[in-house]
Amino acid sequence: MQDKKKKIVFSGVQPTGALHLGNYLGAIKNFVDLQEDHDCLYCIVDLHAVTVWQNPNDLKSNILDVASIYLASGIDPKKSTIFVQSTVPYHSELSWILNCVTRIGWLNRMTQFKEKAGKNRENVSSGLYTYPNLMAADILLYFSDLVPVGDDQKQHLELTRDIAQKFNNDYSDFGGKDFFPIPNPIIMDESSRVMSLRDGTKKMSKSDPSAMSRIEFKDSNDLIVKKISKAKTDPLPIPNNVNDLETRPEVHNLISIFSSLAGLKITTVLNDYSGKQFSEFKKDLSDLLIENIEPIRDELIRLDNDHSFLLDILEKGTNEAMKRSSLNMKKIRDIVGLGY
Ligand code: AMP
Ligand code: TRP
Repeated sequence: MQDKKKKIVFSGVQPTGALHLGNYLGAIKNFVDLQEDHDCLYCIVDLHAVTVWQNPNDLKSNILDVASIYLASGIDPKKSTIFVQSTVPYHSELSWILNCVTRIGWLNRMTQFKEKAGKNRENVSSGLYTYPNLMAADILLYFSDLVPVGDDQKQHLELTRDIAQKFNNDYSDFGGKDFFPIPNPIIMDESSRVMSLRDGTKKMSKSDPSAMSRIEFKDSNDLIVKKISKAKTDPLPIPNNVNDLETRPEVHNLISIFSSLAGLKITTVLNDYSGKQFSEFKKDLSDLLIENIEPIRDELIRLDNDHSFLLDILEKGTNEAMKRSSLNMKKIRDIVGLGY
């Protein structure tokens, strides 16, 4: 339920494949902590997913998987609104209006587009290009104040702020002055970018062809142990100061995963393990991962057998999001002069 005194938090995850430790530490863990004293909306952004072709059957099951992971990780539907983006049509409507606010030059600077399009720029969907406008629409539609995301989304958030500011300016004489709050990102420092277990210079990603590069929520304990024991390191011992991690991306990554899971500073972890063998560190890291992931995995299995519970939560989420966004959308149309 909306509480006027609380700050509004919005975030989303794409239903494009098995979620992993990067999504958990970079985003979802933060979602759970924020719900205690914020008014939170957590979305499953299926319209973003189709900017790249998705098999429709897989997309449907991935949507429910993300919803289950939200719940199993501790997002409480009594405190937060969980819903699927495409069930609230105002996201698309506002994104169209924002397409008309955002300048092409701004979109041309987006590094995620450049990375995703690669050399194939002429042949990717136009939705991939305007993707950040839809993301801005998600956030602004609810007048959100705070957006917890991983480091890779920082640039999109900066763009959202520019879009909000431009809208407020362009329509300042028509009720737009200070209309959209300028949202702030919340980015965790230690865990903002979890890297691949096979290559510490690449981020852990759903789209990496090797599942050994990432820890997934559904991994068994044995598989977690195996992935960590095979995780790339280097021949040097564990260092005793943070600067020495700079040139050792794989070791840096494992140490920062440990630090975020244990809630310890990187320096503390280094103090505990410097000079020790990687085998000992990896054993403790696997234990820590299992301690965190096992309860989530058990809950996922339970939810898998209770789809009606899940569907009920999503329906309630849609109703709440519809109620809030339809009021806001009416104000936006009115400011822009749409309709009659
Ligand atoms: P996506 O699945 O791409 O929609 O990402 C969902 C959330 O997880 C976003 O807030 C991302 O920034 C975050 N995220 C994805 N991959 C990583 C990663 N390797 N490290 C940290 N955060 C990540
Ligand atoms: N673009 C985000 C990602 O890939 C997902 C997303 C869509 C999002 N809409 C959002 C995140 C709104 C935060 C707020 O991770």
